[in-house]
Amino acid sequence: MKKILLLILLPILAFAESTVSYVTFNDVYDKNLAQDAITRNEHPGFYFDFLVLHCLIRKYSPTSCFEIGTCDGSGTQVIKNAIREGTVYSLELAPEQQREYRLTKERIGSACRLPYIQLFGDSLSYNYAQNYPIDSWFIDGAHDYRHVSYESKQALKSRPKLIVWHDTDIPDVFNAIVDVFKDNKEYKLIRVSDTRVTYAISKIVVPGTTIFKKAAMHQANGAGVKEDK
Ligand SMILES: C[S@@+](CC[C@H](N)C(=O)[O-])C[C@H]1O[C@@H](n2cnc3c(N)ncnc32)[C@H](O)[C@@H]1O
Repeated sequence: MKKILLLILLPILAFAESTVSYVTFNDVYDKNLAQDAITRNEHPGFYFDFLVLHCLIRKYSPTSCFEIGTCDGSGTQVIKNAIREGTVYSLELAPEQQREYRLTKERIGSACRLPYIQLFGDSLSYNYAQNYPIDSWFIDGAHDYRHVSYESKQALKSRPKLIVWHDTDIPDVFNAIVDVFKDNKEYKLIRVSDTRVTYAISKIVVPGTTIFKKAAMHQANGAGVKEDK
């Protein structure tokens, strides 16, 4: 009997301890946040994926965003429109480094009509610190475990408020993210389950969490909100 009870309880306990929360598009979408969003329709589901990206940027108001994987710049345009005056960096393999997409210099970023900073290089060797401060990320480069794991760890080094990943319906992409955040207590990891998006939000900007409360007290005592001790 005890054994049966354990067999039933263990998966439930494991789920309860999971580092990921699950929400749906409707939980993130907000009519006011979505105002003047640039929408995309090139692939099924892109409309919802990129509206989620827009709403998250509008909700958390980062002042900069680093995109990994420019391609033709359609996503870059969504980000720049959402972030308004904020700075957008977008990294793409240089034409001579191109593998799968075989993008020419003319094609890279060509669909983005808004101002942003184009960077060329390999996400596995790029020196991200040269573009600090970076307080949000859109990770949408190579969709394999190694790249996503490395890029996510690099993103965390900038102590951003927001990280958004695309194509997290791909098991290798999602597993890499979950593994990177396994022991991380500073961020809430959220999978928007009816889209391809997963995002991480710093608990400092999520009202009601312990870190937020500590930061608020710190601020009330006359200090900035920057450090969470
Ligand atoms: C899915 S596409 C990006 C789509 C774009 N973010 C959008 O929203 O339209 C992936 C891009 O990542 C680029 N990429 C792949 N590996 C990369 C790497 N190691 N460093 C930088 N860019 C990379 C590819 O060349 C490709 O253009």
